[in-house]
Amino acid sequence: MNAHQSLAIGQRIETLDAISPAATEPDAMVRFEGISKTYPAYRGKPGVNALQDIDFTIPRGSITGVIGRSGAGKSSLVRLINGLEKPTTGRVIVDNRDISALAGRELRLAQRSIGMIFQHFNLLSSRTAADNIALPLEIAGWAKSDIKARVAELLALVGIADKHDRYPSELSGGQKQRVGIARALATRPSVLLSDEATSALDPQTTRAILDLLANINRELGVTIVLITHEMSVVRQLAREVVVLDAGHVVESGQVADIFTHPKHPITQSFLAEVIGDSLPVSLASRIMPAPAAGGQAVIRVQVRGAGAGDTLVARLARELGLDVALLAARIDEIGGQHVGSLTLGIPLGMSSSEDAVTRTLAWLSQYQFPAERLGYVA
Ligand SMILES: Nc1ncnc2c1ncn2[C@@H]1O[C@H](COP(=O)(O)OP(=O)(O)OP(=O)(O)O)[C@@H](O)[C@H]1O
Ligand SMILES: [Mg+2]
Repeated sequence: MNAHQSLAIGQRIETLDAISPAATEPDAMVRFEGISKTYPAYRGKPGVNALQDIDFTIPRGSITGVIGRSGAGKSSLVRLINGLEKPTTGRVIVDNRDISALAGRELRLAQRSIGMIFQHFNLLSSRTAADNIALPLEIAGWAKSDIKARVAELLALVGIADKHDRYPSELSGGQKQRVGIARALATRPSVLLSDEATSALDPQTTRAILDLLANINRELGVTIVLITHEMSVVRQLAREVVVLDAGHVVESGQVADIFTHPKHPITQSFLAEVIGDSLPVSLASRIMPAPAAGGQAVIRVQVRGAGAGDTLVARLARELGLDVALLAARIDEIGGQHVGSLTLGIPLGMSSSEDAVTRTLAWLSQYQFPAERLGYVA
């Protein structure tokens, strides 16, 4: 443990002494207990049930992805973590305190240990990078000299020490988000909430910012909650994932488990975005509904698990004595697991016999590879 971390812990204890502890669970950084959130009807607009029956835990020190379509309730969920919103029912326990029960000064103190970064950075345009980062420290009443030293440290941490005196308008999107991250970390929070923080950035900049967040998690031990509608972000950074749909948690667990065995259609659709469900056009345009003599049946096999697809074609060909053709393959790696599909051509012979197809499907089923027949090619 370095000086930075021990200071962070010391500071947390000092600010939170007065607050009554909630039921403790040492491995949980955030715990949602029976949460629902209803926004009341307003100016003729009907009320909205944004979240219902939410019960899950975000492990201490983890990077946890929260993924869902627009309107699923992701931002509502993060606003409950930092106490910007109160739940309609239930409690939100953050670092062993019931944040949903806090108000006023107690809430503001607790919020110092919860940093947040945003899609549009939310920097003050009239302040330099350094002065944006200094803001939470000024509010917390730090001495000028301490602020100066801390800001320099933070600028270096996020890799923009040379941008000290630049205004937001003089910074790129990636640099602005680095300022946002430095500002969020200024008061040494134990949790960092990221609400679509890379959605406004290009893929290369996204990658760099995600790498920075991974470093922060590793070096400072900050728990990161990553809100996103992009599966690729979860895949790059998170080990745990919660899938939200229409205000409900539809799946949660380890990224590798959830995305190798997706159960809910929403999870499956997110997965399809990364691994692609489509066949190469040249192949798709040749697929016919009926067999042709001397042609092949086209079978798509789903591949899930470490190294699962590596030897499949060779084993199938050997064990069944078939000339199996590999027509297309799309395999990705998610959380160390292979996820994707192989599209195989199974020879029909001159009599268009389905015998080889039947044997192939039986063999795949025996080894628990989900498979479907797409049609035939000549
Ligand atoms: N302050 C609010 N007042 C009323 N309704 C709200 C408020 N904030 C969110 N909602 C509604 O709650 C539901 C969930 O919204 P939320 O912003 O949490 O979704 P989201 O998953 O973050 O969506 P997006 O990906 O578009 O940001 C939506 O139906 C939204 O219209
Ligand atoms: Mg949102």
